[in-house]
Amino acid sequence: MPLSKLRQIPLFSELEDNALSELAKSLKTQTFRKDTTVVSETDEGSMLYIINKGQVKISRLSETGKEVILAILGEGDFFGEMSLLDGLARSANVITLTEAELFVLYRGTFLKLIEKNPKIAIGLLKELALRLRKSDTQIKSLSLFDATGRVATTLIQIAEDSGTIKDGTVKIQNLPNQRDLANIAGTSRETISRILKAFVAEGTVTKEKGKLFINDYDRFKKKYG
Ligand code: CMP
Repeated sequence: MPLSKLRQIPLFSELEDNALSELAKSLKTQTFRKDTTVVSETDEGSMLYIINKGQVKISRLSETGKEVILAILGEGDFFGEMSLLDGLARSANVITLTEAELFVLYRGTFLKLIEKNPKIAIGLLKELALRLRKSDTQIKSLSLFDATGRVATTLIQIAEDSGTIKDGTVKIQNLPNQRDLANIAGTSRETISRILKAFVAEGTVTKEKGKLFINDYDRFKKKYG
């Protein structure tokens, strides 16, 4: 595996060349089809995953099979660290949203890597702090906002994670489907459809096959962020 590729992964970007080439030897690559469960809630954890290509959703299910999506992760992100660190069961399901190519690292190798490289530990803590901030925003949105506010917060979260900005307009390249958007925003697919239509009608957003544009992102964020 080329070291330049590994260096693009934020978690590993600070590693010295020799640590990086040692790591490259321990990584395995696995590919998964779209809609495959990679990690199941309550399983025992033995591996860390790094997304080289594709997207996954992190979700929890109720007894009746209702889903809440906690996060969507993409290229360069990692998952599976929580159960490796605390020794408890997996905290959530991880399901591919697209075909995905993942780098896999065994628990022992991951823990040794952290022990030997404090910079990795700091990178990991930074990412965990960021995830906690995002979860705090999601909790606030789910408990305090009406459906329009929750859908807007969901769009802002996706824009912050994976959008690109140009001339004040944010482009979201791969908008999750309406069912997944509903399970992030804590609402129904029908409500998502109605609110997106209203945003389009008032000119706040524009939609094009799988893409979504938030036209005046600053204003949108001021209103709903
Ligand atoms: P683990 O508990 O081993 O398995 C499920 C993984 O989902 C977990 O590690 C994290 O990597 C990831 N995860 C759980 N909750 C969140 C969250 N709120 N945001 C992002 N990722 C999460």
